[in-house]
Amino acid sequence: MRVQPLLLLPLILALACASGQTVEDTFEKTVKPYLTKNCLACHNPSLKTAQLDLAPLRDVKAAMAERDVWENALAKLKSGQMPPASSPKPDAAATARVTEWMEAQIDRYDRGRKVDPGRVTARRLNRAEYNNTIRDLVGVSFRPADDFPIDDSGYGFDNIGDVLSLSPVLMEKYLRAAEQIVKLALRTGAPPKPMVDRYDPERSAQVQLPADPEGQYLSRRGAVLARHLFPVDGEYEFKVNLRGRGADGAAPAQLVLLAGGKQVQTMEVESGQGKRRTWEMRVAVKAGETPVGAAFVMPGPVRPTDGDQVIVVDSVEVRGPYVTASGEIPESHRRIFVCTPPAGTFDAECGGKILSSFARRAWRRPATPAEVDALLRFVRMAEQEKDSFEKGIELAVKAILVSPNFLFRIERDPDPNNPKLAHALSAHELASRLSYFLWSSMPDEELLALADQSKLSDPAVLRKQVKRMLADAKASALAENFAGQWLELRNLAITSPDARKFPSFDPDLREAMRRETTLFFEAVLKEDRSILDFIDGKFTYVNERLAKHYGMEGVEGRKFRRVELDGARRSGVLTQASVLTVTSYPTRTSPVLRGLWVLENFLGSPPPAPPANVPQLEEKEIGKSMSLRNQLERHRADPGCAVCHSKMDVLGFGLENYDAVGMWRDKDGNFDVDAAGVLPGNKVFSTPAQMKTILLEEREAFTHMLTEKMLTYALGRGPEGYDRPVIRAIGKSVAGNEYRISSMIEGIVNSQPFQMRRGDGKPSLASKR
Ligand code: HEC
Ligand code: HEC
Repeated sequence: MRVQPLLLLPLILALACASGQTVEDTFEKTVKPYLTKNCLACHNPSLKTAQLDLAPLRDVKAAMAERDVWENALAKLKSGQMPPASSPKPDAAATARVTEWMEAQIDRYDRGRKVDPGRVTARRLNRAEYNNTIRDLVGVSFRPADDFPIDDSGYGFDNIGDVLSLSPVLMEKYLRAAEQIVKLALRTGAPPKPMVDRYDPERSAQVQLPADPEGQYLSRRGAVLARHLFPVDGEYEFKVNLRGRGADGAAPAQLVLLAGGKQVQTMEVESGQGKRRTWEMRVAVKAGETPVGAAFVMPGPVRPTDGDQVIVVDSVEVRGPYVTASGEIPESHRRIFVCTPPAGTFDAECGGKILSSFARRAWRRPATPAEVDALLRFVRMAEQEKDSFEKGIELAVKAILVSPNFLFRIERDPDPNNPKLAHALSAHELASRLSYFLWSSMPDEELLALADQSKLSDPAVLRKQVKRMLADAKASALAENFAGQWLELRNLAITSPDARKFPSFDPDLREAMRRETTLFFEAVLKEDRSILDFIDGKFTYVNERLAKHYGMEGVEGRKFRRVELDGARRSGVLTQASVLTVTSYPTRTSPVLRGLWVLENFLGSPPPAPPANVPQLEEKEIGKSMSLRNQLERHRADPGCAVCHSKMDVLGFGLENYDAVGMWRDKDGNFDVDAAGVLPGNKVFSTPAQMKTILLEEREAFTHMLTEKMLTYALGRGPEGYDRPVIRAIGKSVAGNEYRISSMIEGIVNSQPFQMRRGDGKPSLASKR
């Protein structure tokens, strides 16, 4: 009993010191010796490994200024990546004391920092935003921007102000689109004369197959599908021509006519008939550019592999319009004409009302009286030219649609050249940031009204709006545009797996893959789940086609449904066929590409660009005389290659149980799949599921990566050094809220970079990286 206090004494002293010590003391006594012992062997002035020299941090003052170095080092220490496995492992308790100091240092720096919200370049609407904005503004089904040049990307996203350029070609497209939109939306002249259009397989386009309530499984094989511009609401004639001959005695096939984006009729096609057949009908369709075509219900009479001739759709003709509903004014027209002066008159007051109301929605802010007056010129012009009032409005609406106020998202600075002047966005600017972030579209009336009343600056109101907007169907734009680019899903459209090696791959499967990941992202969003579900969420969405691909039983039909997973073979997005396919070459998997994907899109630590003249793999030998693993291991033996390839390849090999289209396999050619590996920090795994468990341990890096990407997308500018405290703070609040995705979105919406901006010029703070 007597010895006890003595034994405890050192411990008590140590505790007292730890709590009473200043950040400065800890640096001198703990951090500096630790760095000297464990890090300086490589990160010193002469070697400068990875361009990092820690020696200048020899005194407290210098150390205190280096927030970003500490943040980088903290990430490396926490994930066990530094010091590298080749060096002696430092004492865990010492490492814990050092990381604690680093965190305190970063927090202290962040608390004392000056605000630099950064500056977003005025950016034009990208293609998706343009289409969605037209949909919400005029209410016609028309996607004019599908025809615009592809937008350039920066920092992985195609909504970055600095890279969205405006070319003469695009300007011309804007003019033409405005013409078309006005024609579709307004009823200001006589209905157009009937026209004929003919679509054949050559003119067939990738269109979304309409959802079908009966779960009919439509195939793209042998189908003709296209987008057709229906100029007005009215009746149209469709003529479907078939060609070919099915096997004698085969069951009849079901052929479906699509018009106006819907399945409108089904026809039975007898097999074994040799002659050319046509099928005609008349259908009422709404104005707009919508999918048309004819496709077979699976299983169709199409058997491209056996010797039989097959029946396919030869062409689809559209004629019309006939019998336009002339008495009925379309909704899109009524939306713009909020008043109508008596026929033949040119009421300036009504004109002003129409144009200010349309300009407010199109420009996402109230138009000034001078602007409205300038627009009214078009009405006066029409009067002088003895044209109608409606014609004048039509011209003005066109002018509104090609104005920079519509095409660009413009935010104003009180002092545009003063980088020190940070200021809050206007209420309307904030409304637009919100709606383009969550909906890739314009603010709706509720948001605009709140902006008009200056209520959006109230945090409770803002919070409620974010909730409302996320619950809206339009929030699927986040899946389409944010997830589509973060997860590189958009590349799925351009992958072309080798048909001989992967005969099961076809456009139907491609679409199913994309759909799965989109639905998964939407589920995380709608159910406000943890972002860690992206790593190993144990559920997914499949239809029959994809379930077969995955070897799952009991899923029938084209409809997607949610299934629970045990996680052994699949969980999270990494083991979804979409991601596995976009990270493969047409003929084989590439552990290098997959590893790169994980580093970039999960851990946020991509290696630098590869050096030129790297020797190629011996393609012919893969799976035959030498496994892929053996070939790459030979490369990795070279330390110059290992810098980048060690972690990258290990992560990629962890996914070798999935072939280049994401099917499970136990063998690759002649070799058994070996999915085992060791990650930095001596973390050993032997299955993809185990690898994901290790990735889950790096949740801090994952959260940081996702916050940074989502902030980039939300702002439309690349991340800067001065954003790091913001990203870190949001990451912490996400961690404190069970990693719920809503806390990330709210954190971004409430951040200074999202709600503020500053004038142009050199940033007011040194931005280090
Ligand atoms: C044996 C040599 C070696 C030692 C010892 C070492 N490092 Fe490294 N460090 C590297 C190499 C090589 C890289 C580049 C590869 C990488 O990022 O994994 C690197 C990268 C880093 C980076 C990332 C730099 C950047 O900007 O991308 C940080 C931070 C870092 N080390 C911190 C540390 C710390 C802290 C220690 C001590 C605990 C340490 N290192 C010990 C070799 C070493
Ligand atoms: C600076 C980082 C870096 C270094 C160093 C590096 N690589 Fe790479 N390497 C990459 C990246 C990233 C890729 C992914 C594909 C791409 O972007 O071209 C790659 C791809 C490859 C591939 C193609 C893999 C496939 O599936 O076809 C081979 C082979 C390769 N590297 C071999 C080497 C060899 C051999 C060395 C050393 C002489 C080396 N690399 C050094 C980053 C690096």
